[in-house]
Amino acid sequence: HPPTLCGPFVGAIDEGTTSARFIIFRAGTDEIVCFHQIEVESIFQKEGWCEQDPMAIVNTVNECIAGACKKLIAVGGKVEEIITIGITNQRESTVVWDRNSGQPLVNAIIWLDNRTTSTVEELLETIPNNARNINYLRPLCGLPLSPYFSGVKLRWLRDNVPVVSQAMEKGTAMFGTIDTWLMYNLTGGKDCGVHKTDVTNASRTMLMNIETLQWDANLLKFFGLPKTILPEICSSSEFYGKIAQGVLQGIGITSVLGDQQAALVGQQCLAKGQAKATYGTGCFLLYNTGPSIVHSTHGLLTTVGYQLGRKAVPFYALEGSVSIAGAAFNWLRDNMNLIQNSGQIESMASTVDNSLDVYFVPAFNGLYAPYWNQDARGVICGLSEETTSEHIVRATLEAVCFQVRDILDSMHKDCKIPLAKLMVDGGMTVNNLFLQLQSDLVGIQVLRAKIAETTALGAAMAAYKAVESRYQMEAPLSKTGPRDAIKPSISATDRNLRYQKWKMAIDRSLNWET
Ligand code: G3P
Repeated sequence: HPPTLCGPFVGAIDEGTTSARFIIFRAGTDEIVCFHQIEVESIFQKEGWCEQDPMAIVNTVNECIAGACKKLIAVGGKVEEIITIGITNQRESTVVWDRNSGQPLVNAIIWLDNRTTSTVEELLETIPNNARNINYLRPLCGLPLSPYFSGVKLRWLRDNVPVVSQAMEKGTAMFGTIDTWLMYNLTGGKDCGVHKTDVTNASRTMLMNIETLQWDANLLKFFGLPKTILPEICSSSEFYGKIAQGVLQGIGITSVLGDQQAALVGQQCLAKGQAKATYGTGCFLLYNTGPSIVHSTHGLLTTVGYQLGRKAVPFYALEGSVSIAGAAFNWLRDNMNLIQNSGQIESMASTVDNSLDVYFVPAFNGLYAPYWNQDARGVICGLSEETTSEHIVRATLEAVCFQVRDILDSMHKDCKIPLAKLMVDGGMTVNNLFLQLQSDLVGIQVLRAKIAETTALGAAMAAYKAVESRYQMEAPLSKTGPRDAIKPSISATDRNLRYQKWKMAIDRSLNWET
């Protein structure tokens, strides 16, 4: 028999773009007791499309829960001591299902999917005075018109998939981002599943009013969508419902946060002025602006950071979203055969002193912040006879760093105060060279998180807060706080010269057709 491991424990479902996991923490701490992770497959039916099977997402999450609970028992813990669970998820990805059968009507359209470029064009045409202004809805929802957001994806489904438009007309269609779809299924599906989302996920749909935190009639009218499809908007930390079956049957779900907002909480960026960057498939930099809404005039998104309780004051964030970060290395591996696995990236890039003036803009699906240009495409410039695979791998690392510089410059302009340090987490932060390049190319200190699972931790913290009123979220956790600090090692002149060249590459990416 394994020695007894005492609870209480808190579980977190982290359903990301490429994998799902269930992580069990010791309640109120950042100590991971065990976890189980499974890859989720994406389906690429056409160029620019990216879908996932909604049922496969639910099944994978259930397998992760079962797998992690088995491991908990194996290390001497009791499943009954999991007192609550939280959900964190890839944001914007859109699921529509049938109210009567509980079955999806179509595959989930994943956030990266670019099929709605023409929908954005059509919506731009409807803006009064022929203005074609992508920022037309910003005062209401904080977001520019882009294929990225759920409202645009829903409009595409309404216009292109008859089974969806008919169900919308009949009032039998239900919509949800991945959190809502999981919540519905975990709490009983068609029989008694709850239809709810949280403020952070709702703030990525373009349908929620950023001030009232409720669905907005004008936004619904603009997109031509019925209110009947929408879930109830709740805070990020409160009781949502109970798990209907399986090993966790009867356990409450008490938090929901979009994954980037969860990482903001997990990194304990809980005060105005703190910021974090998470490097995953994309890279997402969130800057906590406190209870005030800052409307960006430099291409950032205004989003809800978190609202920790029904009556709690919502905290907002400015977000810089980069769609392609780690995904650029998958492209180098799968399409270019330049690397075999991600473990090679650092060693390859370290064999050369610099990128030999190669600049790679991986704008595979347009450029997100601060450009919001859906027609931009990837470019590699500065190639010479001396260029090797190693230079290109290094230029790919630098591309992520320069995109973060683009965002930090916008944040500086919007908030007036330059950021002194940046907390970082996510898969790419195991790469020391990458973090040195990041610090060099932005000219600020980069603080690496001690645990990689800051996203799941944020969801677990918010879930625990809902059941334990004495829990102080701001109290230091044993493993959070930085593992190390990386300082810039190049001169401002060098940095700025390199950035100027990056901007020239961006210009080519934006205007590749002219
Ligand atoms: O907005 C998309 C984002 O939530 C996806 O995050 O970590 O799954 O790449 P990730």
